[in-house]
Amino acid sequence: MWAELKALAGADITGLFEEKGRASDFAIHFDGLLFDYSKTSLTTEARQAICNLAAERGVEARREAMFSGAEINETERRAVLHTALRALSSAPIMLEGEDVLTDIRLGLAKMETFAEALRTGHYQGAGGQITDVVNIGIGGSHLGPEMAVKALLPYRDGPRCHFVSNADAADIHDTLAGLDPTRTLVIVASKSFTTVETMTNAQTARNWMAQAVDDPASQFVALASAEDKTSAFGIPPERVFGFEDWVGGRYSIWGPIGLSLMLSIGPERFRAFLAGGEAMDLHFREAPLAQNMPVMLALVGLWHNQVCGYPTRAVLPYDQRLARLPAYLQQLEMESNGKGVTMDGTPVEGGSGPVVWGEPGTNGQHAFYQLIHQGTQVVPCEFMLAAEGHEPDLAHQHELLVANCLAQSEALMLGRSIETARRLMASKGFEGDELERQARHRVFKGNRPSTTLVYDKLTPRRLGQIIALYEHRVFVEGVILGINSFDQWGVELGKVLALELEPVLSGQVDADTKDGSTQQLVEFIRAHWED
Ligand code: F6P
Repeated sequence: MWAELKALAGADITGLFEEKGRASDFAIHFDGLLFDYSKTSLTTEARQAICNLAAERGVEARREAMFSGAEINETERRAVLHTALRALSSAPIMLEGEDVLTDIRLGLAKMETFAEALRTGHYQGAGGQITDVVNIGIGGSHLGPEMAVKALLPYRDGPRCHFVSNADAADIHDTLAGLDPTRTLVIVASKSFTTVETMTNAQTARNWMAQAVDDPASQFVALASAEDKTSAFGIPPERVFGFEDWVGGRYSIWGPIGLSLMLSIGPERFRAFLAGGEAMDLHFREAPLAQNMPVMLALVGLWHNQVCGYPTRAVLPYDQRLARLPAYLQQLEMESNGKGVTMDGTPVEGGSGPVVWGEPGTNGQHAFYQLIHQGTQVVPCEFMLAAEGHEPDLAHQHELLVANCLAQSEALMLGRSIETARRLMASKGFEGDELERQARHRVFKGNRPSTTLVYDKLTPRRLGQIIALYEHRVFVEGVILGINSFDQWGVELGKVLALELEPVLSGQVDADTKDGSTQQLVEFIRAHWED
């Protein structure tokens, strides 16, 4: 599948700009966003070929199948309809003879009623108005809300939100320390309501709450699909916000899992966030492939990963409030497309999706950019940047941030030749062999690809667009690779073995059922516990 494209790779990126109109031709504008992929080695011919591949692989038909509720998550036999959660203005979406939007709208209204009651003080804790909210969840029940609440802090006019995810007691201990249990709401966010980390932390939080509140369950809400389990935990149905199994965990920020975001910024802004996602859905459904932002983001990703053979990609938001976006995208992309087999069970040709990593700029510049610029591996960089910050009094700092972001993509592409490096060292007074030696350390090969996504300002609507953009990118990459992007069987084995290890660690089962390394580790830990 990739052979024809591989033959088109290897262009000199700087040289491509000799073609008039390169920058605008390799860019897409959509509703306050600009996606510039001109600093990549994609040529006009290569773009045409990879768009043809997308069409041949059935991206358009699969896209419609997803939006219309077909069972495209084949291994779990489920539809994939997270897009329905943000379909505020959509026509009915029929599933098994019923319009799924009816329940979604009721669910949204229930969240809004609760959020308003809490934010206005009509729903209170034992000690009065709720000042703090602790969201306990993991994976998709944590990363999305945590990322979005931080991203939209300039819009917060509700309670402070805190997030606990890890089984490590340190996480919940440090989060609860300093909070007043009588004015704290605990959200137990777990689609299955069985995830061991979440349920363990939820129990710890309830014990903490019980020390100060007579009826601790009255300050708990559940975001879950399993009402029998939530009522067994003591949370009444009026404070359970459910969602259907056709919303995957890592795609669930748009519904009840987004409750902490709604509490933080209010229902109206939450709707603006949904509207941003919906706007991106419409663009994704309607724009031709080569002018379609999620499609081109995906095709550039595949170009780098599958055609050029770059094994990772860095997501580099020059936006401190998007500090948790790389972690969010790690789950979204790697849990979705980190699969070894295609839909029919045969090995994925060319390998699964890339390793995704990153940190906000400018911090990353002082950590790993050395490797990005001079290391022997090429890392395609995906820069993100707001034209305008939220701190008008500190506009000079924003200018500094912008200059740094643009400088990095320029430096990656242009590099610095040995001749320039020699001139530089000569200007510093170096001569002869020492000049040559010093100059070699200052060479940047250049020709390193990057894309830049610029948005006017990180508003609720823009954030919604950006998240939906990445969701659809993952979808398109998955379709072309032939992967089911909506299951996650790869997380199962570790969970099963962890259950098996608990009795080994507690000494109820002999460690000799385990491999030598695991036995050695268990013995060391048990010896320490016995001390
Ligand atoms: O890590 C596996 C996973 O199933 C994720 O897909 C999911 O987001 C996470 O666990 C949490 O699941 P739940 O919301 O059911 O607790």
